[in-house]
Amino acid sequence: MLSYQHAYHAGSLADVHKHAALAVILSRLCEKPKPLSYMETHAGRALYDLAAAEALKTGEAARGILRLLADGRIPPEHPYRQVIELVRSQYGANFYPGSPLIARTLLRPEDRVHLMELHPQEHAALRRAMHGRDVHIHRRDGYEGVLAIAPPTPRRGLVLIDPSFEIKTEYAQVADFVVALHRKWPQAVIMLWYPLLGAGLHEAMALNLGAAGLPDFLRREVRFDGVGERVGMFGSGLIMINTPYGVTPLIDADEALVY
Ligand SMILES: C[S@@+](CC[C@H](N)C(=O)[O-])C[C@H]1O[C@@H](n2cnc3c(N)ncnc32)[C@H](O)[C@@H]1O
Repeated sequence: MLSYQHAYHAGSLADVHKHAALAVILSRLCEKPKPLSYMETHAGRALYDLAAAEALKTGEAARGILRLLADGRIPPEHPYRQVIELVRSQYGANFYPGSPLIARTLLRPEDRVHLMELHPQEHAALRRAMHGRDVHIHRRDGYEGVLAIAPPTPRRGLVLIDPSFEIKTEYAQVADFVVALHRKWPQAVIMLWYPLLGAGLHEAMALNLGAAGLPDFLRREVRFDGVGERVGMFGSGLIMINTPYGVTPLIDADEALVY
């Protein structure tokens, strides 16, 4: 079942939470002059038009990144803001980068990118948005594909797991995947995004991962102002394994962006 399309949710408060943290972590990892592998299990299309019908229909970008930019809430030196400004200057003021484009913008020529996307249209759009000899795009199940490639060369690296959680069993599947991936590639920084929904299915997933003895484990959740627990997604969660030194205070400070 592939009915989810991120074009309806691009630039939402959940994207702000996830993408600001991703930009902070990648900037930190790129401070060392050693090459990196960057992988995504669920890449999406990488470039979103926030003036398109999908984005206008939900209004999530208007309540998310567009409001934050209009209010001047993201400091000019923040790597997330710098990527957004670069993408707007290249593609136009309506455009917003998904996680693969944020990563590619921050990574260096010696780094390697592996992106999994199963949906045929999203995969085709991803191919149009991302190119370069160092970018490998796969139309493949993200869990299976990343585990098959891990550990990649170079071994230093980051995996972003950003599922659409369309089926209830995906929470347990993700938790098992994180443990299996860590076993196969112990050096990987792993970053998992999840929604806070009234059904509370994220809670068991996060507790199980927290109890799994994974190194430098970080769990952070933000709630959206004025959104009750009974109206769909009321907040955004991040779990990190092998959290790089020094990023936790920056990620905590960025929680102020999600209001
Ligand atoms: C939440 S979106 C990704 C958004 C993107 N990471 C970003 O932040 O810009 C999830 C994507 O995963 C894709 N997808 C769903 N199930 C998948 C699977 N098993 N393997 C790979 N991609 C999948 C969907 O088509 C969708 O494009």
